[in-house]
Amino acid sequence: MKPIQLKAEIISNKQVGPNFWRCEISAAKIAKGALAGQFLNIKVNDTCVPLLRRPLSIHHADDRKLAVLYEALGPGTRALSLKKQGEFLDLIGPLGKGFKIPPAQAGGKNVLVAGGLGVAPLLFLSKKLNPAHTSVIIGARTKNHLLCAGEFKKRGFQTHITTDDGSAGLKGQVTDLLAKMISKINRLNIYACGPKKMLQAVAEISVKNKFNAQLSLETHMACGIGACLGCVVNTTKGFKRVCSDGPVFQADELIW
Ligand SMILES: Cc1cc2nc3c(=O)[nH]c(=O)nc-3n(C[C@H](O)[C@H](O)[C@H](O)COP(=O)(O)OP(=O)(O)OC[C@H]3O[C@@H](n4cnc5c(N)ncnc54)[C@H](O)[C@@H]3O)c2cc1C
Ligand code: FES
Repeated sequence: MKPIQLKAEIISNKQVGPNFWRCEISAAKIAKGALAGQFLNIKVNDTCVPLLRRPLSIHHADDRKLAVLYEALGPGTRALSLKKQGEFLDLIGPLGKGFKIPPAQAGGKNVLVAGGLGVAPLLFLSKKLNPAHTSVIIGARTKNHLLCAGEFKKRGFQTHITTDDGSAGLKGQVTDLLAKMISKINRLNIYACGPKKMLQAVAEISVKNKFNAQLSLETHMACGIGACLGCVVNTTKGFKRVCSDGPVFQADELIW
């Protein structure tokens, strides 16, 4: 669907981790057409601080509402974390191009690879995938920074965890587990979202093994609608705008 702009009421805005928040917003018009991997560009305040909208992945969408999952990092997300039920946000969405789901008959296994807040779009994507053919790898700084592992497990996905300090799951990186997993598989669809370094490592593994991999990039953005060229990345097809040509790209088209 074409993106639209609207003022949407906050249904809830709850802290779900050390500095993590989940905000539910009443926005049926955007939610009904939203695809996993697309994002909202949110103007948190009517004031000029912060001046620019902030892009956040669509974490959940149903007939009535949307949700975003975010870390209160800088002025935009900190201001968002202070918003209460009943207040309004100015949204543009759904923006960008989401994940493409290969037809079921294409076969192969799926793996979702999430680093930190990268779980936000992947939990939404998981609703379209069969848990019997899909594994999930989630990486976090520590056990306390782990997000959504319980939700994936509840939905029946085999869920693997890595933490930087070893406080939950394997001590190490998501790509350590991915490398182990692929030693037993020859057809794999990888869907990944997380920090740039992680995505680059996932891309290397997938290109080397000729797997289909879709990566959702989280570059800095300004306009969010393809107008300013503030978010371009280099690809085998020339420079592409993350906000309008992505944020999801095939791993083999990205030049790092
Ligand atoms: C398509 C897309 C989807 C996103 N989805 C989410 C999401 O679901 N949840 C979430 O918490 N965040 C998400 N982000 C990242 C979020 O938009 C940025 O972190 C945003 O800048 C936060 O605004 P702020 O004012 O709070 O912090 P800022 O002051 O803008 O940034 C805070 C700190 O983070 C750094 N930073 C900002 N943006 C990035 C970036 N893209 N990559 C690396 N470092 C950065 C800044 O340099 C600064 O140090 C997404 C970004 C994109 C492009
Ligand atoms: S943020 Fe302006 S073109 Fe992408």
